[in-house]
Amino acid sequence: MQEIISAIDIGTTKICALTAGLTHDSLGNLALRILGEGQAPSRGIRRGAVVNVAEVTAAVGEAVEACEQAMGQHMTSAYVGIAGSHIQTLNSRGVSPVDRRAGVTGADMQRALEGARAVALPQNQEVIHTIARHWVVDGQVEAQQPVGMSAYRLEVDAHIVTGSSTAIQNVVQCITTHGVDVDDLVLEPLASNEAVLRPEERRMGVAVMDVGGGTTDVAVFRDDGLCHTFILDVGGNHLTNDLAEVLHTPFETAEMLKLRHGHVIPERVAEDEMVWATVFGERGERNFNRRFMSEVLACRAEEIFEQAKAQLTKAGFFAKIPAGIVLTGGASQLPGMAELGRNLLGTPVRVGAPGSHLPIAAMSRALQSPAFATSVGLLLWGMREDARSLHRRFRAEAGGPGGDASVWMGQTVKWLKNLLPG
Ligand SMILES: Nc1ncnc2c1ncn2[C@@H]1O[C@H](COP(=O)(O)OP(=O)(O)OP(=O)(O)O)[C@@H](O)[C@H]1O
Ligand SMILES: [Mg+2]
Repeated sequence: MQEIISAIDIGTTKICALTAGLTHDSLGNLALRILGEGQAPSRGIRRGAVVNVAEVTAAVGEAVEACEQAMGQHMTSAYVGIAGSHIQTLNSRGVSPVDRRAGVTGADMQRALEGARAVALPQNQEVIHTIARHWVVDGQVEAQQPVGMSAYRLEVDAHIVTGSSTAIQNVVQCITTHGVDVDDLVLEPLASNEAVLRPEERRMGVAVMDVGGGTTDVAVFRDDGLCHTFILDVGGNHLTNDLAEVLHTPFETAEMLKLRHGHVIPERVAEDEMVWATVFGERGERNFNRRFMSEVLACRAEEIFEQAKAQLTKAGFFAKIPAGIVLTGGASQLPGMAELGRNLLGTPVRVGAPGSHLPIAAMSRALQSPAFATSVGLLLWGMREDARSLHRRFRAEAGGPGGDASVWMGQTVKWLKNLLPG
């Protein structure tokens, strides 16, 4: 029996379904092997959220079917990305008393997290994630892994992500109609970071900025933990729209111009360079000045960076990301994006994509693009969650060893080795 993990990324421009088998590398660490991938152009999504269930369901069906054909079996469940302006985030604190003789247990951690989660939510909002940022023992000691520590009281600072119940139901419906269960909904920037951040960036302080088609999703990490997330209602499609409006071309023409000739630093483009494309109401083609196009694109790209900076500053994190910004998402591939970001924000900015640094075998070249950071990140998120539930299963089956997570992990990996052939 092979543990299978699937992911469905419902983007504004494309839907991607992926399936991988859980395996291990030569050192015994958990790893994935891609077994199937399927894609379909997106329909019925606006700014990251479902606006037409029937259209999204049909598009999800195409992607899932293509993936199933590639792996040769039915997709039974999947980790699913969620985004959109209905998402809200807040930080909250939860507390649990601890039996000092027994030390902190997993149940105490769970109780503290539940306390943090019990915040008053606006009507029609529900909790998607409760993520521990810091554990504090007896009001003083910060602990990364408090299990087993002697204490009277355990506190947790948690990051709570909520979404509109209706928006969540719509996403779930588009998936379950195809006989695919939802393992978990995952906030898209939380998934993207898994695929593109380096451990030292996450430790020092960094913001991952996924510039997609309809939205720009941002997540801030520091001390290895998530600190803040937000979603901007602007992405690569807005750049295309601006170009279409200014040049009077159909959207498709503007998209082609952006992909082939786009640049967001006008000075990098020769002043007199011309490109050709069709415009509305005219037969044949007209020529456009590439420097002018670049000025149009730069305007919107600057707005995206300025909005991100304003939100990071407002939340108090702009000065706390020494590792700067890691750009990802399809629109991060626009030439000049990282340079523009560096010029505007004065921080390090690089473009990140899923690649050979990840514990994933058989990843196609197509997947190794920033546009698939969320899709691949969802698989990695799923791998971690699966490892956790395997832990729990292992502990239950083994009668529960007493507290050392690394020991459990080692045993789980050994157990997995027995479970998986080769
Ligand atoms: N090579 C490229 N150069 C510039 N822009 C690109 C390139 N490839 C894709 N894009 C742009 O990236 C955007 C799509 O990105 P992505 O695939 O990450 O979005 P999505 O996941 O479908 O949408 P979202 O996450 O916003 O819901 C489009 O605007 C597209 O024009
Ligand atoms: Mg996306």
